[in-house]
This record gives sequence, C-alpha cells and structure tokens, in this order.
Amino acid sequence: MTDPVLSAEAVVAGYVPGFPIVQGAGVAVAAGEIVTVIGPNGAGKSTLLKALAGLLAVEGGRILLGGRDVTHLPMHEKVAAGLAFVPQTGNVFTTLTIHENLVVGGHTVRGELRARLEEAYALFPDLVAKRAARAGSLSGGQRQMLAVARALMTRPRVVLLDEPTAGLAPRMVAQVFTDLRRLAGKGVAVLMVEQNAKAALRISDRGYVLAGGRNHASGRAADLLADRGLAEAFLGARAETAERSA
Ligand SMILES: Nc1ncnc2c1ncn2[C@@H]1O[C@H](COP(=O)(O)OP(=O)(O)OP(=O)(O)O)[C@@H](O)[C@H]1O
Ligand SMILES: [Mg+2]
Repeated sequence: MTDPVLSAEAVVAGYVPGFPIVQGAGVAVAAGEIVTVIGPNGAGKSTLLKALAGLLAVEGGRILLGGRDVTHLPMHEKVAAGLAFVPQTGNVFTTLTIHENLVVGGHTVRGELRARLEEAYALFPDLVAKRAARAGSLSGGQRQMLAVARALMTRPRVVLLDEPTAGLAPRMVAQVFTDLRRLAGKGVAVLMVEQNAKAALRISDRGYVLAGGRNHASGRAADLLADRGLAEAFLGARAETAERSA
C-alpha cells in the first residue's frame, strides 16, 4: 500500500471510560483505495468508525490523517483536516430538500459552495431532478447517495461509511458500490463497514475482520474472500474458490 491517508493503530475506545469496546484495533486506507471492515454484530465496527471520526473519546492508540496526529481532535477539526463520516442512520435531514442538505453539508466551505454543489450533482446526476424535493421523500438508495454527496461537500481525502447499503434492494446495493468505486477512482480514500460482507469485499481492495474489538484478520479483499475459514465464520458461506470449484 502507498502511504495511507488515514491510519489507526491500537485504538481503544468505547462509551464508558475504562470499559472499552474497541480494544486495540487498527486500520489504514490509502488514496484511491476501498477498504472494508467486516465482523459479527457487536464486534465494535461502528464504535471504531465513531472513534476514527472523533465522535468518541480515544482512550488509547494513535490516529494519523495525512501523516498528522489527529487522535484526540473533535469531529469538526477532523472534518477540517479532510475526513468525512457518513453514519448508518440519520445521515440526511429529511425535512430539508436535497439542495438544502448539500448546502448544509458545505456550510464550512467559503467561496467555493457553487463549485462544490456542481461537483456533487455531477457525481450523482440522479439528484439533480430531485433537488427541490424533501430528502424524506427519497428512496433508500437515493437517500444514501445524498448522504454521500453531502459528505463530499467538504472535499474530503477520506470518507468513512457505516453500512452504506443496509436495507437496500440488491440493485441499489450494486449502485452504491459502483458510486463508491467511482469516488475512489477520483483519489478519495474510502473506508466502510459492511454487513453485505461478500459483495463489499468484491469491490474492495483490502479488508479487515474485526471481532471482539480487535483485528482478527486483514489482507487483500480477494484473499479474504478465498479464505475458507473466514468465509465460514464471517461471510455466511463457503469461500469463493470453493464456490467456483463446486
Ligand atoms: N451508544 C452506546 N452506548 C453504550 N454501548 C454501546 C453503544 N453503542 C454500541 N454499544 C455497545 O458496543 C458494542 C459494539 O457495538 P457496535 O455498534 O460498535 O458494533 P457493530 O460491530 O457495529 O455491530 P453491528 O454489526 O450490529 O452494527 C455492543 O456491545 C453495543 O451494545
Ligand atoms: Mg454497526
């Protein structure tokens, strides 16, 4: 991997001081890469993302963003440093229009708002026709697109997404992954947590398996997919190679 945009080592974090949920996990993602974190329910995946994003106090370890130590910065300072976070729920303002959501997403952008809005609409052309509609009227897939578009308004170097395809129909799952691949193609570092583990790994460069708040495995996505032991334990199926030879 080239120099990571975001790297985290030995992160310890949780909701009650002294009772960590994430117990020494580490992840890294480089420009243009998609990295997926998978793992069982309650493994601490969302907690890790929240800690990386600056929404939870980091009790141990180190987080570097573009080589700078951002371990203890609050979220708004991490955003200013180039990080964006798309939480699993509540990631758009449902009573505001699509356009208003994008403007809110870019409220820290001075002077360049118009250019950023044009970029957002160019990347997600389906949102153009809906710009005056309330976000609450969008389908699940469109809402997820808006959430990503809104996060991009600050032109981040790294985007963290918590289960971007949760609850979406298969066609929309594919669409979201295509959108994320396009985003990575523009040089953005993409780090996501996914329950659609196999589908996510198929479009990812690398992956991590988190269990019990710690790294259980990591490697190239294709290697994780082909690993029989991991497939049985974490992918809910046989490994890719086993499927192909069956
Ligand atoms: N706001 C919270 N306050 C206290 N404990 C929490 C909170 N959110 C999560 N937890 C606990 O932290 C642990 C890990 O939760 P987390 O949401 O990080 O898991 P996850 O890997 O994202 O799981 P899932 O696949 O279900 O989304 C769980 O035991 C959960 O009960
Ligand atoms: Mg979660």
